[in-house]
Amino acid sequence: MPKLFRKVREIRNFLRSFRCSNDNSNSIGFVPTMGYLHKGHRELIRRSKLQNDLTVVSIYVNPLQFGPGEDYETYPRDLERDLTVCEEEGVDVVFAPTDDEMYPEKPTIKIEIPGLTDVLEGAYRPGHFSGVATVVLKLFNIIQPDRAYFGEKDFQQLKVVQRLVKDLSIPIEIVPVPTVREEDGLAASSRNTYLKEEERQAATVIYRSLLLAQKLFSSGTRNAKDIKEAVLRALLSEKLVSKVDYVEIVDEEFRIRDDQVMEGDRLLVALRVGKVRLIDNWRFGDE
Ligand code: PAJ
Repeated sequence: MPKLFRKVREIRNFLRSFRCSNDNSNSIGFVPTMGYLHKGHRELIRRSKLQNDLTVVSIYVNPLQFGPGEDYETYPRDLERDLTVCEEEGVDVVFAPTDDEMYPEKPTIKIEIPGLTDVLEGAYRPGHFSGVATVVLKLFNIIQPDRAYFGEKDFQQLKVVQRLVKDLSIPIEIVPVPTVREEDGLAASSRNTYLKEEERQAATVIYRSLLLAQKLFSSGTRNAKDIKEAVLRALLSEKLVSKVDYVEIVDEEFRIRDDQVMEGDRLLVALRVGKVRLIDNWRFGDE
């Protein structure tokens, strides 16, 4: 069983002595999560285990990153099940703090990265990335890992964390991990558990739409507007897709691409299947 900590002071003490033993040469890998662990999280854990002497997983549904009317209350939680997954994967330490432990007082700091926290997901979920950045920074300060693992599934979040680390000179290597998908292509997500059977089937339209974009790109289409329109049409062809929030293409600096799509650009989509909001993305050039 992994060692479970619920208190900041206790995990700090434990990690301090781990870090100092073995001639200060022990490395710590960190996988921040909101729990209800699935195969995507498992992949992050596996990468961490390969590269570090000790792997820490945090499990904390961070209230600060949920807006009013979002799914904070209903977000799936099952610590017992998560501990079993962590044991199967050989996780050394689990940090599952209480709200009081993480936020003895509500933080008043607002981390904003113009052009990054306020666009796309940030525009549809105001305050979301400020909440993510705050909790990630707190967790980094508590765990002080050498490396931290983030999924490309949440591509904009990965960009926010990379910027945070760069701008504030945080001495942690951010390791991006490619999106893990179910057999039919749907990106693994804790929120997939909200989907009713019919909606789960309908959600496969997302991956098919991403593949369509790649197919157009591979066959020479470069006009961003043409590709976005084709993807939007493909998504809306599924009757259970009730709303598409955005279909957008960004370059490697996360600038909106409105002319010629280049290899390495990302297609980002957010939509609702029934009432469930899902996001996904694709890097042009991948097979
Ligand atoms: P959560 O949604 O639990 O995701 C934890 C990590 O797993 C994130 O880095 C996410 O990108 C990654 N992940 C989720 N699904 C994935 C998939 N299908 N393939 C690859 N990686 C995947 O993201 C959060 O939690 C929170 O915002 C957090 C960073 C923990 C801050 O609260």
